Amino acid sequence: MRVLVTGAAGFIGATTAEFLLDHGHEVVALDDLSHGRRENVPVRATFVQGRCGDEALVRTLGPLDACVHFAGRIEPALSMVEPEEFLLANVGETTALLRALVHLGCPKVVFSSSAAVYGVQDVTPIDEGRPARPQSPYGQSKLIVEECLHWLAVTGRARAASLRYFNAAGATPAHPERHDPEIHLIPLALDAADGLRPGLDLFGDDYPTPDGTCVRDYVHVLDLAAAHALAIAALDEHTEIVANLGCGVGYSNLQVIEAVRRVTGRTFEVRRAPRRPGDPPSAVASNARAREILGWEPRHSSLEEIVTDAWHARRAH
Ligand SMILES: NC(=O)c1ccc[n+]([C@@H]2O[C@H](COP(=O)([O-])OP(=O)(O)OC[C@H]3O[C@@H](n4cnc5c(N)ncnc54)[C@H](O)[C@@H]3O)[C@@H](O)[C@H]2O)c1
Repeated sequence: MRVLVTGAAGFIGATTAEFLLDHGHEVVALDDLSHGRRENVPVRATFVQGRCGDEALVRTLGPLDACVHFAGRIEPALSMVEPEEFLLANVGETTALLRALVHLGCPKVVFSSSAAVYGVQDVTPIDEGRPARPQSPYGQSKLIVEECLHWLAVTGRARAASLRYFNAAGATPAHPERHDPEIHLIPLALDAADGLRPGLDLFGDDYPTPDGTCVRDYVHVLDLAAAHALAIAALDEHTEIVANLGCGVGYSNLQVIEAVRRVTGRTFEVRRAPRRPGDPPSAVASNARAREILGWEPRHSSLEEIVTDAWHARRAH
């Protein structure tokens, strides 16, 4: 298949583009390089630099069998500072992209949604039937795009899968996780272990969790990449899919810090800091639907493998 991958110079997009190429697909990689790096784009892909919301540009990229849409702004806390920028980047650009894809007759869209659509839930694990309650413009933008895709599916304009990732983590040797600014716990802790940051801030240690720190569900980026390929195939049978991608096991921030110390063999300072607004105490996925509909199974998402792969990938670079 000929697949358009937007955000292909970013962490998950580059890994997925590589995965699709390894599985015999042709990849058109679109990225404006606002946050990604040119060297992340697999050499076997056709790279186009530009905005995913540039309709005229996207219309030149066809014909396409599918689009996997990763491009967007990703920092929930920053979205509380400049919500209009996030809504324009994540909703405005995406609706323009969708118009161009419909014009091209692209039959399938797979979208990077997020656990952020759930906000704070009082049950664990969280399944897709829970009411969405985004706590940030970032989470809201993901929900709005899911709803746009629902209407494209209902009207027969395109089949669509919204994949709600929990915490993407791990790495492949070719693509270490790097964001600027970095907001994710594992790369921040690895930076601290590597001496690239003066320790690590631990936000909140008085949550109602076993050790008082937030509990999250980490999913290896390779497992995410596989899920996207499976979702493209599953859209042959389904017009619309909404599915969580998480390993179904929660690890506390302290457990992650311990794993980083164990894997790297290094110690670093951990500073206790106040809770951050909007951080749910616990976010763990039910992945039953992804298993059933996509035939997906997280194969690389033990905490040990995630941290080890992330550490080795950054050593390799
Ligand atoms: N990292 C996570 O834990 C996580 C969790 C849930 C959902 N997601 C979603 O997954 C997607 C990918 O995340 P990531 O961690 O790889 O982020 P990333 O920042 O590494 O990658 C995003 C890429 O999109 C590009 N981009 C941004 N706006 C663009 C535009 N308008 N046109 C073209 N390119 C544009 C950036 O240059 C970057 O290369 C995002 O949509 C994010 O919201 C990520």
